[in-house]
Amino acid sequence: MIVRPDAEGIRRAVEILAADSVVAFPTETVYGLGAHAFSERAVGEIYRLKNRPSWNPLIVHVASVSAARELAEEWPGRADELAARFWPGPLTLVVRRARRLPGIGAANDTVAVRVPAHEVALRLLEASGLPLAAPSANRSESISPTTAEHVARSLPDVPLVLDGGACSWGIESTVLDVTGDVPRLLRPGALGLRELRDITGSLALPEDVADGAARPSPGMSRRHYAPRARVVLCKDVQDVDRSGLAEPVGVLTYEGGGSGEGGVGTEVLSAEPREYAADLYAALHRLDDAGVATILVLEPPQTEDWLAVRDRLSRAAAK
Ligand code: TXA
Ligand code: MG
Repeated sequence: MIVRPDAEGIRRAVEILAADSVVAFPTETVYGLGAHAFSERAVGEIYRLKNRPSWNPLIVHVASVSAARELAEEWPGRADELAARFWPGPLTLVVRRARRLPGIGAANDTVAVRVPAHEVALRLLEASGLPLAAPSANRSESISPTTAEHVARSLPDVPLVLDGGACSWGIESTVLDVTGDVPRLLRPGALGLRELRDITGSLALPEDVADGAARPSPGMSRRHYAPRARVVLCKDVQDVDRSGLAEPVGVLTYEGGGSGEGGVGTEVLSAEPREYAADLYAALHRLDDAGVATILVLEPPQTEDWLAVRDRLSRAAAK
């Protein structure tokens, strides 16, 4: 059930969380499916509802840097610098997990943590007093939700969805491992590499992250973020041989990239990567709703600014 995030809505959400069940809530990136991070029963409910593979660990959301430090066995100086600059915000840090805490998924000795920049998320964290594990609130492998309605449609069994409107970033947080000497990018996301390098200097960018190919890190399955329709990436949407493609065909392009008649559905996004990312999942949801069988997607430029968008699109296109 979708509810307003007023005092009564938050009270009901806290009640559900305290009973070891789950609540969906808005963040600045995408909606999360939240549960008490160190309750085995609550976390089990997340995996069950999402149909998420049990090895894939979850991000723990907290309200402050000090709450994040409490989850860590070791809190590197670099984590402090990054947190001071980017929290609350769309950066997830992987640190060594405090030994007294249970592990989540197959993350043996680490924990991923972030402070979300969304007023409703922060109120929920403060009112519940709990660290909340929260993956994106969608069925495993499908498109992440950027509105409360997306959540309710993907996960109709979630007892409560706090409605915070559309998410401003619309794409997941950047995940950075700071357990080693050089910070390692695990998932490109909302926070760009240029901003990160301002603080970290060098940054390890594993090749498989850079090109969106399969990778061994948890959660990075090749097919992910996928709509129902088949996604086909192309360099020119007007010039594609459509004979082998299932009809109807929809098109996802961006300004200046050519409109390429979709017939059933054409989505023209911004040519600016942040704005494009903010609309991407909503556009894929709309194309699915329009009933297209194939989505022709104009490939964005091969520049670093587009890294997160290209990562999500290549996963959506994977078979
Ligand atoms: O923006 C976001 O990060 C959203 C909102 C709700 O905060 N959450 C999100 O969670 O995208 P999820 O579960 O869809 O993605 C979490 C990613 C996965 O790729 C997972 O493998 C990785 O973070 N992760 C979680 N814990 C980890 C750990 N200890 N070590 C390495 N990767 C980890
Ligand atoms: Mg997800």
